[in-house]
Amino acid sequence: MNNQINDLLGFLADSPTPFHAVKNISRRLEGAGFKRLEEAKAWDIKQPGNYYVVRNDSSLIAMRLDQVSGDAGFRMVGAHTDSPCLKVKPRATQCRDGYVMLAVEVYGGALLNPWFDRDLGLAGRINIKTSTGAITSRLLRTDRPVAFIPSLAIHLDRSANEGRNIDRQKHLPAVLMRTDEDQHDFEDLLKTWLTKEEPELDIASILSFELSLHDCQQPALVGLHDEFIASARLDNLLSCHAATEALIASTGPVNRMIVLNDHEEVGSASTSGAAGPFLESVLSRLCRDHEILGRSLERSMLISADNAHAVHPNYADRHEPDHRPLMNAGPVIKINHNQNYATNSESEALFRVVCESNNINYQSFVMRSDLGCGSTIGPITATRVGVRTVDIGVAQLGMHSIRELAGVKDQVDLAHVLRGFFDYPDWPF
Ligand code: CO
Repeated sequence: MNNQINDLLGFLADSPTPFHAVKNISRRLEGAGFKRLEEAKAWDIKQPGNYYVVRNDSSLIAMRLDQVSGDAGFRMVGAHTDSPCLKVKPRATQCRDGYVMLAVEVYGGALLNPWFDRDLGLAGRINIKTSTGAITSRLLRTDRPVAFIPSLAIHLDRSANEGRNIDRQKHLPAVLMRTDEDQHDFEDLLKTWLTKEEPELDIASILSFELSLHDCQQPALVGLHDEFIASARLDNLLSCHAATEALIASTGPVNRMIVLNDHEEVGSASTSGAAGPFLESVLSRLCRDHEILGRSLERSMLISADNAHAVHPNYADRHEPDHRPLMNAGPVIKINHNQNYATNSESEALFRVVCESNNINYQSFVMRSDLGCGSTIGPITATRVGVRTVDIGVAQLGMHSIRELAGVKDQVDLAHVLRGFFDYPDWPF
């Protein structure tokens, strides 16, 4: 198997939550010589230099700077670290009918049917108080399935195959264990798991947590020629992976940046989301004054990389004729003149030129006029920061399912074209 694909499969498996994705990307960047900048400290920026910043443990901006004090602009690639999933409610467990049940909230636009009958693990961030009163946090990831949401047998719902209705409140709580008790201490369970990982950890109490369920089935190559990747969170960890690898491999010499935001699936409005001030804050600290920032932004461009809808052979009529992206046929340029995608003719032209100069095929996508259009961090970042933006991504099937499908060749092409963008010599601005 191609190293890059093998590496992606490992990254997907090791990143069940945005916290884990950011931790894994941070580790990669450290390995490639990037230095972490703390937002609460003064930045000592040397040029050229490689740096990264993390916010809320779940969003990350990394940069390779060549001309810090000038107004040369930034070539940026954006993607999101979060994916639709089931998140655990604060008072997590209830005992009923002989089971300990885990209460969950639906995060983002999850396709709910595929969550049934899966071997589910639990992962996320836990905030704890130590015996000295210090507040700290740890990431947790059960390395085995601990939960299950069973389907109702067909015998008990004969109409299940005709039109199954999922009541989020009643049908999604997950089975954790059999019990004859009427109480369960979830925080005690979390303590047990954390101290198993880290026996010396001093936990006086669990203060809070952000945990979610994930599929324990490993990512895999499928198809007669191993041409597809099947995994959870391809939207959009696939793009995060390609962006990170492209940044590390790029040689410049221009200012290059990746912007990986949490909370895209719920509208991006948070301190770490694309509608928040994270990128703007980093750019203004790099550019030092508004005059330089203004000139820099006019010389900048963002590629917003997020997956696109490949045409589904069983539902081909859901796509606009002549705009039916195929898997393994190159990155898809996403266009919506109502600004659900930020692509305009100028940013599209630039992206096409980068593809052509790197011998990468590309495709176009526009939504049918009678169907609503999705969106990305592209228009949000463009609005917030004022940077010209193109929305692109690999074509995938089953978007927002717990198991999605993308093309092996597309992943390679995406990383290639993003690197080509970072290294493109004949930039017009
Ligand atoms: Co997405």
